[in-house]
Formats: sequence, structure tokens, C-alpha cells
Amino acid sequence: MCGIVGYTGFRQATEVLLTGLYNLEYRGYDSAGVSVFEDGVIQTVKTQGRIQKLADKLAAAPLHGNCGIAHTRWATHGVPSDVNAHPHCSEHVALLHNGIIENYLEIKEELLAKGYQFVSQTDTEVAAHLISSLYTGDPLEAIAKALERIEGSYAFAMVFQDHPNRVYGARKDSPLIAAVGQGENFILSDISATLKYTKDFYVLDDGDIVEISPETIRIFNHQLQPVSHPLNTAHWNVEQAQKGGYDHFMLKEIFEQPEAFVKTVARHILPDGLPSFVRDNIPEDLFQGCRRIQIVACGTAMYAGMVGKNLIERFARIPVSVDVASEYRYNNPIIDKGDLVIAISQSGETADTLAALRLAKQQGAKTLGIVNVFGSTIARESDHVIYTLAGPEIAVASTKALTVQMAMLYLLALCLGMENGQLDRERCRTLTAQLLDCQNHIQQALSLAEPISAIVPGIIDRESLFFIGRGLDYALALEGSLKLKELSYLHSEAYAAGELKHGPISLITDGMPVIALGTQQSVLPKTVSNMKEVKARGAKTLLICKKSAKVDTDAYDFRIDLPDCPDEFTPFAAIVAMQLLAYYKAVQSGCDVDKPRNLAKSVTVE
Ligand code: F6R
Repeated sequence: MCGIVGYTGFRQATEVLLTGLYNLEYRGYDSAGVSVFEDGVIQTVKTQGRIQKLADKLAAAPLHGNCGIAHTRWATHGVPSDVNAHPHCSEHVALLHNGIIENYLEIKEELLAKGYQFVSQTDTEVAAHLISSLYTGDPLEAIAKALERIEGSYAFAMVFQDHPNRVYGARKDSPLIAAVGQGENFILSDISATLKYTKDFYVLDDGDIVEISPETIRIFNHQLQPVSHPLNTAHWNVEQAQKGGYDHFMLKEIFEQPEAFVKTVARHILPDGLPSFVRDNIPEDLFQGCRRIQIVACGTAMYAGMVGKNLIERFARIPVSVDVASEYRYNNPIIDKGDLVIAISQSGETADTLAALRLAKQQGAKTLGIVNVFGSTIARESDHVIYTLAGPEIAVASTKALTVQMAMLYLLALCLGMENGQLDRERCRTLTAQLLDCQNHIQQALSLAEPISAIVPGIIDRESLFFIGRGLDYALALEGSLKLKELSYLHSEAYAAGELKHGPISLITDGMPVIALGTQQSVLPKTVSNMKEVKARGAKTLLICKKSAKVDTDAYDFRIDLPDCPDEFTPFAAIVAMQLLAYYKAVQSGCDVDKPRNLAKSVTVE
């Protein structure tokens, strides 16, 4: 949600800033801007629209200088427009922001009374004027004083007119890092912005203020006492963050799933064939005597949680609740000291998931993060963290991250099952081997790309459609429906197949598409009955099931055959099929697959 790049060094700043913005474009893409010191004076160029539009503006009227800040925006306060684009400028400072300033109205009134004039509808402009009003020559002091007043979440990057060659930053509840180069330094939302230049970075803590010059990075707490943080090195490389010959990041990431899956799973299988989290330094007693588990997450990660619930209850017989993180935090959840609360997040920065995690910690639960981005806030704040090894996920719609989240939850379910005596070692070993074998199912599902692309025009030809499924298939139906609607802007609903008769079936009209997930042999006949019910009312159906499933051909118009495997291991192949359906529908409809409208990859505001 909003991407931030700050640079000071020996290169042309606009080149570095634009490279960084393109790499962060997945975080928001409704407007963009830069402020650069040119001949010692801050010059600002900004525009509504994509980064390319900003690049075109800068190509027409280049800015020359070696220090500056840049922003790609996902609008919160104020429509996407030139004036609302960041940076916002005041007398002494140009500032950009990711987050929400909650008390901006109150501060704005005070500043208006002092004669400050506002040109935008943003909360951010308030911060620019506030810092400027507090500035008496020392940027750090002005920032620290301003932060005492500001409530809400923020990652700021700033340049001060009197201090060319320096960039300042501050953070609270929004990610910000300081990346380290040779004779150049950076302030960034995340390291993917500058993998081309450096992989080394410091993660800032909430309350930190940072100052970078070409040679130095100085980090302070909010009382301006120096603080030091460990230096991290990104494990991702530039190629991973590029399209590598695919038309879209999403397609590349769909095809990266076998590799991401094997990396994630193999790391957690010991030579004796049993699953383990010792390599993540998870203490054995985390799982011992675990009586209740709560999973908190948002969107796709929450659907991974639903799959996790099914597996943990199946293999370990431990009750699991799954909550949308934004609801959990406001629903006065019952959290007992011995509960294990699992926060699942690709980005590790999702504001609601982070808040749910903090609440659980406060109330004494043990917390475990399942996170993809190294050093992210959820990873750092969880008592324990297990990293999924998907590599960078750039497309806004999550694909490979979900697969590895599910893989991790399988491993967790097996460990818990072994720990509490529900699974003996031999059974656990067999299940672990079956899990590893899912890499082949994923591969086989990928080979369906062309047939799936060919099916799309026949089945997804209405503005509105249904996904249905039972058990594990229900969680996958929810995810399939989400993927389709976010990418293609179609109205799509997912239902537990048995629920259709309790209301939604009244929406079935002639030709309405219904996509049925039927990978669970144990409930397939029931799902098939539901398909026949909708077909009898005019629906057109697609069945996604195992190759060997025997289903009356009257029940479906189209069928996608997935590799055969035990019911509990079908989600990996099924999810690939649904990702491909959504992908090809979006491509065929001419939608912007990697950057769907209104969305952002990392949702760092509530
Ligand atoms: C959908 C999607 C979102 C994310 C959700 C949580 O394709 O990507 O629903 O899954 O915003 O994000 P993370 O996993 O970063 O917490």
C-alpha cells in the first residue's frame, strides 16, 4: 500500500527512484511523484496515473540531481489526482507517506489558524506543513516533535531544503527499511525496490527516525537516541523480481509453484522422513499440550487458514477457529493463555493481521507467524516465525504464496498430529511422502494451462457466476471466486454446495455459470446432486475433479480432470486449475492482470 523510495548517492536520482517505483508498483498505482534536489533546490514532479506517466513527464523535462524521494500511491484520503499525489511540499520540506494520519483534521485546523494553506485533500499534506512549522534548522528535531503529535500509521520519507544530499524517514505501523550501498544509501518500503543496487538493509522499528547521506545511515528512536539494528541480506535476486519471459508476473508465479512448494516442504522434512520445524528454531513445547488454535489472516491467506483448519482438525483433532483478521480484532475474541494463535501473511505487513497478532500476544496467547517476506513486521513480532519460501510475489493476486502457506499448514498439522498421539510415526511418514508428491500434481495441473484457456470462453461468459464445493473444496471455491472477481471484475460468489438451496439458488437463471469443485471423493455424490439441481434450473456447469472420478455426464457441461491422489492432498492441483481459470479469463477480457483496479499488494492500512 503505497511504495516509497528515497535515494542519496552518486547516480542520477530519477533513474534510481523510477527503477525503485517500478519494482514497488504492486503496492499501489493510482498516482506517482518524485522530489529531487536539482542545483540545490527541491523540484517536484507528480502525476495521477501509473508510474509510466511519471516517467514520460520526467523524460520530457528531466530532473538532474543525486538525491531525492519518490512515491507510488494507493489512495486513502482524496481521489487519485495530480494534487493529491505525493510528495507534498511545505516551506522547508517535501514529504511522502504510506499510512493514515488519524488526527489530521485537528492538526490541520491548528495549521490553518497559523496561516498554512492546503492544496490537496490528503492527510499527508498535514504532516508536511506540521514538520515545516516545527523546523528550526534541525530536521531530526522537527520530525521527532511532529511525531509526538501525529496519531495513526505512517512510513514517511522526506527531504529538507536546507539539507541537500540527505533523506529522512520515520515509521510507525507501516514498513520502512534503510538499504545500504557503497557510496549510496536508500530508504524503501521493501528491498525488492533496489535489488539491482543492493541486498543489504536495516529494518526500522516503530518509532524509529532515520537519516541517510551517501556515506552514512543514522537511526534514532523517537527521543533521538541512536539505535542500532542488525544488518539483513535479502535472499531474493533480481531475476526473481522480473517477468523472465512470461507475459505477466501472475503467470510466472503460477508456474513457479512446483519449485516454491518443494523448497518450502523439503526444508521441513528430516532425513528420517518426518516433518519438523527445528530448522526454524521452533521449540518442541510450542506444539506440546496445544488444546486450541486460532488462525487470523486476510483474503487469500485466510483461505489458506481454512484449509489449515480442515487439516489440523483431521490429523491432530485439535479445534481450530479461522477468523478474518479485521473482524477478530473488534469482536472481543476469547483468547486463553495456552492458545496458539497463527497469523498467516505473504507480505507480513497486513495491518489487520498485525493488529490481531498484537491483540493475541497482549492477551497471553503463544503466537506463530507463517510469513513470506523476511524481516517483515508480522515475522518480527510473532513469538515464532516460519518462513514460506515462495520468493518475491509481485503480481497483486496471490498465487504461489497460497500454495506454500497451505504446504506449511499440512506440515504443521502432521507435526501436531504426531505430537498429540493422533498419528503414529509410520502414518506420519507416509503422509509426509504423499505431501511431497504433490509437487507432481502441481506440475500436472500446470500442463492443463492450454485446455483451461480454451474452456474459459464457454463457461465464464456472464457477468455473474457461482463457485461451489464442500469441505476442503469449499475453501478452494472461496479462493477461486476471489481470484476471478479481483482479476476480471465479474461478480462471483462462492457457496458451500449444500447452502445453495437455502437461498442463492433463486439467482440461478438460464446459462448462469456454476463452477463446482468436486475433488473430495467422500462428498462428491452430494456435490454432483447440487450440480444437477442447478442444471435443472438452466445453469451451465464446470466440474473440477479427479481424473478417475465417475460422474454422470448429465451433471456438467465442461470438466477439468486433475491428477488422482488421496482426498486430503487435492487442494494443490485444484488451486492451480482455478488460478489458471482466473488468469485466462482476465487476459481474454483485456484486464490488467498484474495490477487489478483499486487493489494493492501490501495492505498496510486498516
Ligand atoms: C488476493 C490477495 C489478498 C491477500 C490479502 C492478505 O489475491 O492477494 O487477498 O491474500 O490481502 O495479504 P497478506 O498475505 O500479505 O497478509
